[in-house]
Amino acid sequence: MARITVNRKSHDIDVDPNTPLLWVLREQVGLTGTKYGCGIAQCGACTVHIDGAAVRSCSLPVSGAEGKQITTIEGLAQNGVLHPVQKAWLEHDVPQCGYCQTGMIMAAVALLMEKPKPSDADIDSTITNICRCGTFQQVRAAIHAATNA
Ligand code: FES
Ligand code: FES
Repeated sequence: MARITVNRKSHDIDVDPNTPLLWVLREQVGLTGTKYGCGIAQCGACTVHIDGAAVRSCSLPVSGAEGKQITTIEGLAQNGVLHPVQKAWLEHDVPQCGYCQTGMIMAAVALLMEKPKPSDADIDSTITNICRCGTFQQVRAAIHAATNA
């Protein structure tokens, strides 16, 4: 059994406490915006926020997220208003296939909470997510745009 709080809502889940948070979010909670890429904390597709910090949910047992605030891509918009990073993503046409973009956005939002005006070097060293479509230039541009929103 695990009790987790996702996007401000509490869920009691009947699951092995060692189950990766990613699968609990997708299969038990039903939030499929968070994606599976590698399963070994390398690609960043599964990035969510735990107490505001970017975490790769494929490699965190659900027990490690109990008692903390988990935010997924579905919880970023507030009252139907997109987060400034989401708006910047749309304005800069960042996604190509889109598969990595949840993780990119969650990593970007966490970076901006930590560092409101990041340099390109800050972005490159912090956003280590992999995009097979090569959207890195657009990601950088959208992050800079979001800082001015
Ligand atoms: S699926 Fe978690 S880092 Fe790749
Ligand atoms: S947009 Fe296709 S993998 Fe990043």
